[in-house]
Amino acid sequence: MNIQMVDVKRQYQRYKTEIDAAVMEVMASGQFINGPAVHKFSEDIQNYLGVKAAIPCASGTDALQLALMAMDIVPGDEVITTPFTFVATAETIAILGAKPVYVDIDDKTFNIRPDLIKEAITSRTKAIIPVHLYGQSADLDPIIEVACDNNLAVIEDAAQALGEKYKGKPVCTMSLLSCISFFPSKNLGAFGDGGMVTTNNENLAEKVRQIANHGSSERYYHNFLGVNSRLDTIQAAILRVKLKHLDEWNQARHENAIYYSENLQMPGIITPFIADFANHIFHQYTIQVESNRNELQKYLNGKKIPNAIYYPIPLHLQKAYREVSGYREGDFPVSEKMAERVISLPMHPDLTREEQDYIIEAVREFMQQ
Ligand SMILES: Cc1ncc(COP(=O)(O)O)c(C=O)c1O
Repeated sequence: MNIQMVDVKRQYQRYKTEIDAAVMEVMASGQFINGPAVHKFSEDIQNYLGVKAAIPCASGTDALQLALMAMDIVPGDEVITTPFTFVATAETIAILGAKPVYVDIDDKTFNIRPDLIKEAITSRTKAIIPVHLYGQSADLDPIIEVACDNNLAVIEDAAQALGEKYKGKPVCTMSLLSCISFFPSKNLGAFGDGGMVTTNNENLAEKVRQIANHGSSERYYHNFLGVNSRLDTIQAAILRVKLKHLDEWNQARHENAIYYSENLQMPGIITPFIADFANHIFHQYTIQVESNRNELQKYLNGKKIPNAIYYPIPLHLQKAYREVSGYREGDFPVSEKMAERVISLPMHPDLTREEQDYIIEAVREFMQQ
């Protein structure tokens, strides 16, 4: 059985005619940079989410950096986030000379604990970045409340969560700024890199737009320190085709996750928890293995079942950040525990029941040894 972690090839084959036509149209137009599809795709996302502005850029990482630059994050500032996330969340804070200040995660949802944020706030704190890890919304209301009370910006890292809802409302619509990734394996994936910043604040939207364009609104006149961060027209054209199917794919992921969870109830395994405020669009299907995760991983590898550990080392213990941050082992015990326990199983909309049964059987065999 040829199981893929994320089956981008199978998905392409299914929508090939439409995608090929969209790409050929861009090729024929010659408008590879800022062609009409880029603007149309921004409008599509605005309509899809119900948000005033969606600014395309080159990656999810750039989206985070642009959002932080728009909030004037400078050296000496602090930004609160979770240590249990992809490195880009903290990297973009650090690259601007600011300090990532971590708050530990909830042991059921893997997302930042809002009740611990208050004690991490100092006079230097400027923003909070909750991450919707694995496709499940962080608990936004209390995060936004503590941010409002302390005059802080909330920037959602929704790289893994386009289409997710919090209390029935789409994520990326409730905070000051939100960041999306179109990395190929994401729920809405391009055929290369891509990203987007969303906001309901027109002034901030204009600032992000300009920062992404060398700090400029008029060619050769520069208002802000900026960067060059664009979404290619070809990627926008592909994403326009794919966006039409996103909700249906997210639903298929959710159903696949339910099937896994129904069949993976066994001692030693904790299946994902769905918070009552979230939908969960299962960017990843991630289980906790109580004692022997690394052995299970070897067992799955032996059976050619793809799997991944997101993430093996929490950010406060990463070499690149350890010395500057001053954090130590033991500072964020839940994140550290989860780094030793989690393993993600294949998850995508085209996963078949036959493939899932094979994976479930392999986990069961291992756990019963
Ligand atoms: C939580 C999180 N933040 C940010 C990013 C960065 O996105 P990109 O790879 O598009 O730069 C990712 C992508 O993996 C992510 O998972």
